[in-house]
Amino acid sequence: MTLNKEKISIWADSDVEYAVNRTNLIAHNFGFADRERNVLTIMVSELARNIYKYAKTGVIVIQKIEKNNKKGLEIIAEDNGPGISDIELALKDGYSSNGTLGLGLAAVKRMSDEFVFDETRNIGTKINVVKWL
Ligand SMILES: Nc1ncnc2c1ncn2[C@@H]1O[C@H](COP(=O)(O)OP(=O)(O)O)[C@@H](O)[C@H]1O
Ligand SMILES: [Mg+2]
Repeated sequence: MTLNKEKISIWADSDVEYAVNRTNLIAHNFGFADRERNVLTIMVSELARNIYKYAKTGVIVIQKIEKNNKKGLEIIAEDNGPGISDIELALKDGYSSNGTLGLGLAAVKRMSDEFVFDETRNIGTKINVVKWL
């Protein structure tokens, strides 16, 4: 069940920052402890930065969810950019098509409670991650 959600368009570097700040505040108000809140902001930072870097534009959705009596925050990162043709490769520590550290996606996956890469998409990239309270 979805409780409510916030959608943030990513167009510029400042939008990445805004998404991170909103995540921090929403997670705080939702009751996440500092450590989990930091994890959530790092995940949003990496996902939003990837959108800006690889697809130029896209959206970050932050939504409160409830499943089997557990409450959590789900982050959806979605864009219509070039997409990730080999997700296994993209998830390897140190792999980057870009010469940067290549630790982002692997870290996001490790830090999340649920990580789903939408394999059915023909265009762009959609990744859902969940952190339970
Ligand atoms: N939104 C995206 N659209 C297209 N390709 C992406 C996207 N996010 C990640 N990738 C691909 O996955 C690779 C690994 O991403 P990441 O782990 O964040 O490392 P880095 O951003 O440092 O390259 C990127 O180099 C890029 O090829
Ligand atoms: Mg990255």
